[in-house]
Order: sequence, then C-alpha cells, then structure tokens
Amino acid sequence: MSYKAFHERSIKDPDGFWGDQAKLIHWEKPFKKVLEYSNPPFAKWFEGGQTNLCYNAVDRHLADRADQVALVSVSTETNQERAFTFKELYSEVNRMAAILKANGVQKGDRVLIYMPMIAEACFAMLACARIGAIHSVVFGGFASHSLASRIDDAKPKMIITAEAGARGGKAVPYKPLLDEAIELATVKPEKVLLVNRGLTEYTTIQGRDLDYAAERQKHLDDLVPVEWVDSTHISYILYTSGTTGKPKGVQRDTGGYAVALAASMKHIFCGNPGETMFTTSDIGWVVGHSYIIYAPLINGMATIMYEGTPLRPDAGIWWQLVEKYKVSVMFSAPTAIRVLKKQDPAFLTKYDLSSLRALFLAGEPLDEPTASWIHGAINKPVVDNYWQTETGWPMLAIQRGVEVMPHKFGSPGVPSFGYNMKLLDDSTGVELGANEKGVIAIEGPLPPGCMQTVWGDDKRFVSTYWETIPGKLIYSTFDWGIKDDDGYFFILGRTDDVINVAGHRLGTREIEESISSHPNVSEIAVVGIEDKLKGQVAIGFAIPKDAGKVDTLEAELMKTVDTQLGAIARPARVYIVTALPKTRSGKIVRRALQAVAEGRDPGDISTMEDQAVLAQIKTIIEENPVKS
Ligand code: PRX
Repeated sequence: MSYKAFHERSIKDPDGFWGDQAKLIHWEKPFKKVLEYSNPPFAKWFEGGQTNLCYNAVDRHLADRADQVALVSVSTETNQERAFTFKELYSEVNRMAAILKANGVQKGDRVLIYMPMIAEACFAMLACARIGAIHSVVFGGFASHSLASRIDDAKPKMIITAEAGARGGKAVPYKPLLDEAIELATVKPEKVLLVNRGLTEYTTIQGRDLDYAAERQKHLDDLVPVEWVDSTHISYILYTSGTTGKPKGVQRDTGGYAVALAASMKHIFCGNPGETMFTTSDIGWVVGHSYIIYAPLINGMATIMYEGTPLRPDAGIWWQLVEKYKVSVMFSAPTAIRVLKKQDPAFLTKYDLSSLRALFLAGEPLDEPTASWIHGAINKPVVDNYWQTETGWPMLAIQRGVEVMPHKFGSPGVPSFGYNMKLLDDSTGVELGANEKGVIAIEGPLPPGCMQTVWGDDKRFVSTYWETIPGKLIYSTFDWGIKDDDGYFFILGRTDDVINVAGHRLGTREIEESISSHPNVSEIAVVGIEDKLKGQVAIGFAIPKDAGKVDTLEAELMKTVDTQLGAIARPARVYIVTALPKTRSGKIVRRALQAVAEGRDPGDISTMEDQAVLAQIKTIIEENPVKS
C-alpha cells in the first residue's frame, strides 16, 4: 500500500485501521470499540479491552524467546555491562513488583522513579506496569525544586532511586537532592527504595528508606501475577515544560500506547523481533519511555540502556556497541551527532556497522550539515522524526515500513498514520496551503498513544492545548511550520516560551522563577538563543535590587538554578542590566531580547516604551559575548 493510501485510511477509517494495528499486541480481554470520541477532545481507544504493558513487553515473549537477550545495561562510567534475557528480565521485574506490593503499592498508586540509566530503572518501570501502578519518571539531571514540584503533583506512595548517577567519570549524588526535595514537598512518600551502587556515601532515614538489594533478597522467587487493566488505565505521568512555570503531567493510557508503539516499530522504525535497538536518550524523557523501554520490548527486541557520554572512553563507543550487539535500529539526537562530528571521523569507520539499517534522530531540528555528515560517515539512511512528550511517538517521519519515500533535508517528512495534521493561521484559525507559515495543529481525535489529559487537570488540558486557535477545538503543537507542495513539513521553531537545549525541552518561565528567588533580583527575563552545538542555550537578563552588590551575582544566579532545577537548566550567561525592554503596558518583549542576543534585527520596536534599553543591552552583549 502506498503511504498516501495508508495515511488516508488511518484518518478516514480509524476503526478499521487501528483495529488492524491492535492485533500487534496481546489483549487479555478484547475491546468492544476501537474509538470512543463522544466527548472531544478526550479520546478513548480500545474501550472495554484489557491488557498490560509489562505482559506485552516481557511475559508474552517467554514462549518464543526466553533465552534471547532483552536488556543490555551498559555503563562506561562504572565500566559495567549487564545483559538480561527475557527470562531473567521476567524474574527481576517480578522481584521488583513483589517489593512494591509488599510495601503497599497498589493499582493506581503513583511511584516516582528518580534514577540513572541502570537496569533497575527498567525493572522499576515494568514492575509498576505489571501491578497497574502509575510511574512518573523524573530525569536524574533535575534538582530538588524540580523534583519537589513533581512529588507534590503526582503524590507518589513510593519513590525509587539510586544513591548516585555518574557523568564524565564523576559520581553525581542523587540521594541528598531527593532528601531535600522530600523535605520541600508538602506530600511525603511513605517509602524510598534505594539501589546502592557503591558510588557515594549517603544517609538512610530509618523507617522510610529501604535498601533494594536487601528487599530483593526477600523476594527472589516471588512471582507477581499481571494485573489486567482497562485499555484506558493510566500507565504513566511524565512531566514536561510549557509556557507557565508549573510543569504539566502528561498522562498516558495503556492499550492505545502499546498499540501505537508496536505500530510505530513496524511502520516507522522497522525493527524486527530478535533484533537490537539502541536509543541513546534517557528514561527521564519521552524518547526513553517509548524507545528505550516499551517499544523495543513490546516488539520482542533487545534494548540497550547506556549510561555515559558519547565520548568516553573514546568517540567510537556507540559504534563499538552497534558492532558488539548487532544493533539494527539506532535512535539519537542531532546534538549528540554534532558532538561526534567534532571528533576524528576514523572512530566511525573503525567498527562493523553492517547490522545497522537506519539511524533515527529526533528532539530538535536536524540541520543539513549534521545530517549530511552523519549520512556520509555511516552510509545508512538518516531518518529525522518530529514529535513531542505529549504525542509519545512520531507525528512526522518518512514511514519506511510503509513506503520508502525520498528524504528532504531540513524536513522530518510527512504526517504519520493517525495524525490529521494541519497548518493554521494563528490569529484567524484559517487553514493554510502549501508554502505558508503557520502553527502546526492536529485535528482530533489524537491517535492512540498520545496524551489522554494533563494529570489531575482536564481543564488545563483543554485550555492549554485545544483552545489556542481562534474558533476551533484543535490540538496545537506550539510549533511553527510550513508544508511544501509534496506535503513535507518543515519545523520553524516554537510559538511559546519553550526552548530546546541539546534536545532537552525546558521552559524559560521555570528558569525565570528560579532566578527570581535570589534576594538580589528584582526582574528577570530568560530567552533561548541559537547555539551551534546545542541548538539553543538559555540566557538571562537580570535587574538587581541592589546595584551595588553585583560582582558575583551572575555566578550566584547560575548556582541558584543548579541547585533548584539542575545544571541542565543553567543559562549560558545571565547579564546584569539596569532595564528590560517593555511595551507600554509593561510586558517584557522577549522576542526583541532574543533577536538582539542572536545579533539579528529586532524588527518593529515602536511599541516599546524606551527604545534606548535595547541598545544598551546590545552593547553589553557585544562586550561580553556568549561563549559556545
Ligand atoms: O519543538 C519541537 C521539538 O521538540 C519539541 C518536543 O520536545 P519533547 O517534548 O522533549 O519531545 C521530544 C520527542 C522527540 C517539539 O515541539 N522537536 C522535536 N523533534 C523535532 C523537533 N524540532 C524539529 N525537528 C524535529 N525532528
């Protein structure tokens, strides 16, 4: 079937199309209805059906591939490589599930996972799914304030953690940050289960903290039956940034997600059971949820979890793993490729990459030089794909399993099956034609696998995502885009204050709120500016309360962000200024700040109250440029 016919059917006949895709997973109880959309924009997929993500990822493969490797956990930080067959993974997940149950975790309870990239994190996610508990993984790079706000929102019964992660050869303590976060949070978890990796010392809180190794010993032979849950049962919450300072809990179902992931493995990623997938992301991000953990395992593939940088012990490490584990599907981000591009190209040609069929890249714009370089270096298709935490799987891609359409540089391709994508004029809501810039939107229903709602806040789901385009109930991606005559989309940046640093999505308002907490800050604006390596970096402009005390202020503000949000959110610079460009009504004109910082013309600034402010800021930046 051609891509065109395939996509058309998915939109015109969702029941037939998704009914077919649903056969890719196991249903304990068949669903009664493919799509229930009587209450837009809330879509319910496969109502009446019962299934389980853990069963589909693990148990289902025991009959055919019990002794096949399911998970390889590689750490170039601790020099450990651990492989688990499906049978071994099954045992570990059962032990973890038994620990959860023994400590009172039940179906529907939340379990927050704050862990580095180690096998136990995978066991924890699958164990939650097994018993119908809802996991909420928080990226290990986030610090205590970020963690505390997520604890308060998700109200977890238990938190699973490790005492430390590791990066660039140094241990990164997790436990003190977690203790501080729990201290800050108003809702306290009953238990903290800690995997002790022997990397750092830590303090144990009696009665609350449990040692994983000791607990595991108690449950070595336990088997925990799968909890069959409704297709619409919440599998997880994953927080992501938006326009406000408060992160949104993206809530996902079970059945729709499993079907969407299985379908995407078949039609987009083209991975086959028995093969290996290597996704270089982190379980703290959506790419990690979907393509490190669930999709490869659901599809009977081995997955590689990697802790470390792409450069240690040398820049050949990822390709060495491709050779060693005969990786056939690899998934990374443009920033990582730009990092590798700076290294000796010999690292890439040194290893046998014959098993690899394609390299998938997502999370940020893929620039032409990077795409051409990596394509030339590995001589495999490089498949850009565009999506969001909210959608859970690609919205735009060349769907090689359907039809191998030509790639176009700078474009992630065409709408994936199930996505009815539109380009709209942001002020009139009118649908635009080819070669006109507009907001990328999706006509409801969102396909299976996409967010169900914002955790605990249906109103926010509707108002944030569905009511931004005048006169229409339609999902906004908050990305600008353009479509060419062949229907290929090009992404032109965000319409909101979300920035993308090294493929990591950050909200500038969260950074502003953190900086504002410093006693000597009266006003702050944070914007994202272009960066050759990371795509974007954040920079701040702060007005001090006491202009006499600014010698160390920039460093103090960076430290504030480090300790509250994590180093990942630290701006590249915070300029200390005396005024910010504002409209007459007092709104900070962030767009003008961004333009000036990027060395561009700020455009029409006639609405600005004091036009000299921008000129002053321009001089300050020119005298102290942002270093890449
Ligand atoms: O702005 C788009 C950008 O990343 C945002 C979503 O980030 P996140 O929620 O972290 O999910 C990443 C999942 C891969 C989008 O709104 N983005 C993502 N992929 C691309 C992209 N921008 C350009 N090209 C892409 N391929």
